[in-house]
Amino acid sequence: MFWESLLNARAHRLQPSGIQEMMVYASRPGAISFAAGQPSEDLYPIEEITHGFEEAMKDTSVLAYPYTEGDSMLRQWISNWMVEEGLASSVPGSERILLTTGSQEGLNIISQLFLKDGDVVVVENPSYPEAMLTFGKEGVRFVTVSMDEEGPVVSELEAALAKEKVAFFYTIPTFQNPSGHSTSLARKKEILSLLKKYNVVLVEDEPYRQLWFDEKPAKTYFSLAKEEPVLYLGSFSKIIAPGLRCGWMVLPPIIMEKAVQLRLTFELGVSALLQRMIFYVVSRRNFEAHLSHLRHEYRERRDAMAEAISKHLAPLGFSFPTPKGGFFFWGSRDGLNGTDFARFAAKNFGVALIPGEIFFALPQKGQNFVRFSFAKVDREETNKGMERLAKAFREFC
Ligand SMILES: Cc1ncc(COP(=O)(O)O)c(C=O)c1O
Repeated sequence: MFWESLLNARAHRLQPSGIQEMMVYASRPGAISFAAGQPSEDLYPIEEITHGFEEAMKDTSVLAYPYTEGDSMLRQWISNWMVEEGLASSVPGSERILLTTGSQEGLNIISQLFLKDGDVVVVENPSYPEAMLTFGKEGVRFVTVSMDEEGPVVSELEAALAKEKVAFFYTIPTFQNPSGHSTSLARKKEILSLLKKYNVVLVEDEPYRQLWFDEKPAKTYFSLAKEEPVLYLGSFSKIIAPGLRCGWMVLPPIIMEKAVQLRLTFELGVSALLQRMIFYVVSRRNFEAHLSHLRHEYRERRDAMAEAISKHLAPLGFSFPTPKGGFFFWGSRDGLNGTDFARFAAKNFGVALIPGEIFFALPQKGQNFVRFSFAKVDREETNKGMERLAKAFREFC
């Protein structure tokens, strides 16, 4: 009570992550986990990481206090790669790139620079829960926009922008977490012109973009934008390893300056050794081959999960569209209480999944949805896990 009475308003607004509860069940012996949005450990480029550390250590300046904005070699590489990969229409310039400890830090920096108590943030419905926790701790109010096959529904976004003074629109346009949906090119153009009309910032979060299975995703908002204000977030978590904690943001000059000043107050800077190592991993000739390998492996896992769902869960009334990239199946069943079912299945049948509810800014909305990640499970585990889930569901009902 004493300590609690000393906490400030932001500390009181901090909330536990709904995903963490499921991760505890997922780590029990014998459990099969469809919970984590984590890459598979067998797909980490271990040799390249080891080689990268050896190369990085040849320059001992990486052990000094780092530049607050991040390692210049990696920032330069990202700036060029963004054009080669089609993420940017022209070289953004390394001076606009801030290396982060992952998109999550980028979201926090954006929150602390742009948000204040009482502001309105527009998010997709559903959206990534940790982003909502990050914005929520600043005391914002959420306005949600539904998603259809093409992406966020324009009429809903326009209604929100016309009615509210919006701080920014947060979107995950490619293989969205949790829905797996991608926003079409035409929809992106419509949304950009709307944001221009209302002069509202778009925050584009793209950790899954490189993990496409059938065809390359539509151009980024960032590359399509002319005068529209877009802040772009990229990450190495899903394509190298999440424990390295490295991603990047592309920012306009004044925001870059403020972001660097803010970063300095948290941590001075982020390990240059680690960032230089990543530079050696990504600038090697085989990096593109590594990305193709990831796409191939995750496509196989996606296919295995699609088969297991249609064999075990579809006959019970579950409906899951097949994602075209990323890590997730997102589906529903009429009348399901996803939160109770997820707890029941994890405790009694040793299968961890994520209930849909936590992905909605207004939680009661997503009750009949659940999310499965196929990233860390092979064909056999997937089939076994779905078989267990079908049994769990029969007992649960
Ligand atoms: C949509 C989205 N944004 C951001 C993150 C955090 O990524 P990072 O590891 O780069 O911080 C995740 C992680 O799952 C995510 O799904």
